[in-house]
Amino acid sequence: MPNDPEAWWRESSSNRPDYTFAIRRLDTDGFCGICNVHVDWRIGTSTIGIVLGTAHQNQGLGKDGLRTLIRFIFAHIGSRKVKLRVFAFNSRAIHVCQGLGFQLEARYRQEIFRWGQWHDVLDMGLFAQEFIDPQGSIDDGIMTSTGTLTDPIVTT
Ligand SMILES: CC(C)(COP(=O)(O)OP(=O)(O)OC[C@H]1O[C@@H](n2cnc3c(N)ncnc32)[C@H](O)[C@@H]1OP(=O)(O)O)[C@@H](O)C(=O)NCCC(=O)NCCS
Repeated sequence: MPNDPEAWWRESSSNRPDYTFAIRRLDTDGFCGICNVHVDWRIGTSTIGIVLGTAHQNQGLGKDGLRTLIRFIFAHIGSRKVKLRVFAFNSRAIHVCQGLGFQLEARYRQEIFRWGQWHDVLDMGLFAQEFIDPQGSIDDGIMTSTGTLTDPIVTT
């Protein structure tokens, strides 16, 4: 046992591996992309990411997948806050995130070089109370929903 078990636990739990989920179509079960969560258990935040294959973009899967992932985080992981990072030129991702209730928290100026120029990078954040979810509402961090977590397209 380490000298300071609590410090060891805090350190190891904050380094716990991410959750990674496949995004599949309900009708064909075809693989469309992945989304992932990194939980910081010490401060109660979850940082997420998502990527769909090009052929699967712009069909509503991203918003559905993110919504499902965020429901899982608030209802089952119990984070206070969900965070993500997005390139400022990624107007589609920003539009989707804003539609889910994400707020701009930080702008890192000229962080990434693409297509011959520098672009800003944005950090966005979402508290449970801000989450826009047509399937249910969140009260004090506990989600009440008319749907179930088995409904949506995200499966392990
Ligand atoms: C970003 C991503 C997850 C979004 O998922 P998606 O399935 O393509 O998006 P959806 O079909 O759910 O929603 C697209 C929305 O953006 C809108 N949109 C499409 N292109 C847009 C653009 N260039 N600018 C602004 N909005 C745009 C659509 O009209 C739609 O809005 P609506 O729901 O209000 O009608 C997906 O495109 C993706 O994986 N991209 C590559 C990786 C990436 O950018 N990851 C995100 C990093 S945070």
